[in-house]
Amino acid sequence: MAFKQSLSALVLALPLLANGLVTRRTVCADGTTVANGACCKLIPVVQDLTENLFEGECGDAAHGALRLLFHDAIAISPTLGGGGADGSIAVFNATELTFHANTGIDDVLDAVGPFLLKHADVMSAGDFIQLAGAVSLTQCNGAPRIPFMMGRAPPKAAAPNLLVPEPFDSVQDILSRFGELGFTTEETVAVIGGSHSIAGADDVVPNEEGIPFDQTPDIFDTQIFVDVQLRGTLFPGQGNTQGEVETAVPGTVRLQSDHLLARDSATNCFWQSFANNQAKLASTFGQAVFKLSLLGQTQSKLIDCSEVIPKAIPFSHGPATLPPGQTMEDIEQACATAPFPTLSTQPGPVTSVPSIPQAA
Ligand code: HEM
Ligand SMILES: *[C@@H]1O[C@H](CO)[C@@H](O)[C@H](O)[C@H]1NC(C)=O
Repeated sequence: MAFKQSLSALVLALPLLANGLVTRRTVCADGTTVANGACCKLIPVVQDLTENLFEGECGDAAHGALRLLFHDAIAISPTLGGGGADGSIAVFNATELTFHANTGIDDVLDAVGPFLLKHADVMSAGDFIQLAGAVSLTQCNGAPRIPFMMGRAPPKAAAPNLLVPEPFDSVQDILSRFGELGFTTEETVAVIGGSHSIAGADDVVPNEEGIPFDQTPDIFDTQIFVDVQLRGTLFPGQGNTQGEVETAVPGTVRLQSDHLLARDSATNCFWQSFANNQAKLASTFGQAVFKLSLLGQTQSKLIDCSEVIPKAIPFSHGPATLPPGQTMEDIEQACATAPFPTLSTQPGPVTSVPSIPQAA
C-alpha cells in the first residue's frame, strides 16, 4: 500500500498554454492521468469492483449497486432532514433497512458491504456508494459514463423514514418528492425509467427473484418505455402484490409507479419521448444520476475524480421493438400531443423473458 501510494504520488507539472495557468496533473501508478493526485487511490477500488463485484456484467450486482446509490441519495428532504448521498444507508443500516421502501437492500448490502468495509481506509461510505453506482453503469451496454466527485463526509445519522418512493405512490407524490430536490419532471421520468431498464424485482413477485422490468435487463436501452406502455394482460407468478400491476411481456413484472408514469398526463409525453430515443435517455438519465450523487453535498467542496470511472460501453443494439405477437394496437397511447413512435415486432414465437441470475 505504501509503495503503491508513493508511485501514484509522481506529480508531473505541465504548463498549460491556453489560459496561461499552470495546471498540475498526476499520472497514477496504472498510467491514468488525473487532475488531482488524491484520485489515484480510487483506481484499485474501481478495479476491485469491476473484477470481483460486477465481474464485467450488467447483472444482479450492478443492478443492486445502482439501486443502492438511489436509496442512499434520495433520503434527504428540505423539511424532514436526512443527509442524502452520505452513506447513511450502509453505516446506519440497522435503522434504514427497517424502512419498508428499502426492502431487498439487505441483499444488496450483503454483496456490496464487504467491499465498502474493505476500502473504508481510502474513502467514506457515501463516496463508496456513489462510486460503485457510477462504475456499475459502465458494466451496462448503452449506459452513460457519469462524473464522480470525492470527499463526502461520514454520515451523521440515519435518514428519516418515508423519503424513498414506493411503487404504490401516486405520480403527484413521486413528482413532488423529486421536485423538492431540484429534479425536473423530465429528469424524474428519465432516472426512474432509465434505471428500471437495467433492473428487476426480488421482492415483488412472491417466491420469485430477479424478475426483470423489461425484456433486456442487462442492456441500458429504451425497451422499458415500450414494454410498460403496452396494455397489461398478466401477472407473473401467483396474483399481484401492492405496487404491482399487470405486465404485457411474459417473464417480466410491472411496477404500478412505472405504469402510471407512462400514463399520467403530467408525465406521459416525457415517458413516450424516451421510447426509441437512446441518446436522449442516456444523456438525461446520466445528468439526473449525477444530480442524485450530489444530494446533501456541495459540489465545489468535492474533488473531481471522474477520470477514474471506466469508459462507457457504446450502445450496440438496434431500435426498440414490440415483443413477438404484439403490434402497435397493443400500445396504450397516453400522450395527447404526439403519437407513440412506430416500432416493428420481433419475429418468432412468444417467449418468456428469463429471470436475472442472482449474485451469490
Ligand atoms: C418512483 C421511484 C421508484 C420506485 C417506486 C422504485 C421501486 C423499485 C422497486 C419496488 C424495485 C424492486 C425491488 C425488489 O423487489 O427487489 C426496484 C428495483 C430497482 N430500482 Fe427502483 N424505484 C424507483 C426509482 C429508481 C431510481 C431513481 C433508481 C436509480 C437511479 C432505481 C434503481 C433500481 C434498480 C437498479 C433496481 C433493480 C435492483 C435489482 O435488480 O436488484 N429505482 N425499484
Ligand atoms: C451495518 O451496521 C453495523 C452496525 O449496526 C456495522 O457494524 C456494519 O459495518 C454496517 N454495514 C455496513 C456495510 O456499513
